[in-house]
Amino acid sequence: MRRRIVAGNWKMNLVFSEADDLVNGIAQALIECDLDDVEVVICPPFPYLELTSDIGEESDFSVGAQNVSKFDNGAYTGEISAKMLEDMNIYYCIVGHSERRKYFNETNEDIAEKVKRLFEVDITPIVCVGESLEQRESGNHFGIIKKQVVEGLFHLSNEQMENVIIAYEPIWAIGTGRTATSQQAQEIHSFIRGLVAEKYGKQTADNISILYGGSCNTQNAKELFAMPDVDGGLIGGASLKADDFVKIATSF
Ligand code: 13P
Repeated sequence: MRRRIVAGNWKMNLVFSEADDLVNGIAQALIECDLDDVEVVICPPFPYLELTSDIGEESDFSVGAQNVSKFDNGAYTGEISAKMLEDMNIYYCIVGHSERRKYFNETNEDIAEKVKRLFEVDITPIVCVGESLEQRESGNHFGIIKKQVVEGLFHLSNEQMENVIIAYEPIWAIGTGRTATSQQAQEIHSFIRGLVAEKYGKQTADNISILYGGSCNTQNAKELFAMPDVDGGLIGGASLKADDFVKIATSF
């Protein structure tokens, strides 16, 4: 089912006391606004998942991880498995963020494996795709995004595909203050939905949620979310301020 979703990616920020303040601040701000048909997801660093999930049980948000191992379990020092996340009542997981592709050499094949591990335990993947500035300027962005979508996701069954969340995050817009225009976002979101429709049919394509990420904030969220194929946002910097994050979630 196509849902409106606003997810906060805290990345590698905050110490425990700050994380505690932020998650409580978000819970409080959510009480004060009426968010009927928007799903709010918080994706903190691993050590704060339990704290976030405990507070989430009493509040109106879900919890996601920022990464998962492509391996099932065993001798993989430092890795966190999908089963461990499931066991902690984590329902979402970001996969293939451009920072992981860039700094940890994640490939589309790795991402496909991670998505498989997540579906094995019914965790919804939030799969990130997006082009660099050079790729956009050379007109290559459609090809790059198609490759990311096809290689990362097209091994899925129809039913699984309907439960994937895709996040379009142009790399040149992440943390730069330079957001994509709503037309640029719409163009790529509609392109991605079209790719899914070609392989899985229109109904499946219409049912998936496609989020925009990249300098999305309280000023520009409304215009972006008004686009027909933009179903919400994956928010970085602005998700670290409780009031801003919740305001973005009210921007539909
Ligand atoms: P910013 O909102 O800080 O640009 O980050 C976006 C992002 O990478 C979310 O995953």
